Amino acid sequence: MLIAAGIWITETNTNITITQYSIHNPKIPAAFHGFKIAQVSDFHNQQWGDKLIGLMEGEKPDIIVVTGDLVDSSHTDFGIAMDFINSALKIAPVYYVPGNHEARLNRYDTLKKQLMDSGVHVLENQREWIVKKEAKINLVGIEDPDFFERSASDNMQKSVSTTLQSLLDTNSYNIVLCHRPELFTEYVNAQANLVLTGHAHGGQIRIPFIGGLIAPDQGFFPKFTEGIHSQGSTNMIISRGLGNSILPIRINNTPELVVVSLQSYT
Ligand SMILES: [Fe+2]
Repeated sequence: MLIAAGIWITETNTNITITQYSIHNPKIPAAFHGFKIAQVSDFHNQQWGDKLIGLMEGEKPDIIVVTGDLVDSSHTDFGIAMDFINSALKIAPVYYVPGNHEARLNRYDTLKKQLMDSGVHVLENQREWIVKKEAKINLVGIEDPDFFERSASDNMQKSVSTTLQSLLDTNSYNIVLCHRPELFTEYVNAQANLVLTGHAHGGQIRIPFIGGLIAPDQGFFPKFTEGIHSQGSTNMIISRGLGNSILPIRINNTPELVVVSLQSYT
């Protein structure tokens, strides 16, 4: 029994689940029908060898987005992170927003420079238009609110709301990259169309019929740990992530690669 449990825990910690989402919205231009986004979140210096890159290659994404915690602040290794990033860049353009672990790093500027020198689009409260056949979508990147709290006296929710209002374009399809799922209300109020998040690590231990056990900034039995959450014109996807931090083991909570396919109505 103990051996079987050990095998199961090992298997479910060393395999990666690919979760596919098809997102329909009238604002998605016809030129973006079938546009594929691979999301890597909470990598935390995990050494996946060729496994993760192989799965990503198989999906043939148009872009790759990294939604925070590429490195872990307690076992920081820029080399592992950059090896992964440089392999990912051979598959598709990479867009990155920093997470709370990057906010804790004294050497974040060094990591940022390495990412930018490699050709990664680092989005810190910035947007980039993605253009295809004269159509475009708005890709917005919000840095982790821990960066805001370092420099501003405003509260986290207000800072994120103000930043979103300045970067979203009501006439376009707006995709937001931000590490934090617990800011769902702010994304809905800002009328973001698609928000890609992580941070919760699936609740670390997933209890059948209940969900995740614990997540940072949400505590026990957190509401936002995985899957898609929809309200108004907003769909928020939460990746369970690919690495771990304080707790090195997941239970019933396989690491996850999220793949989103945009679907146009026209
Ligand atoms: Fe994380």
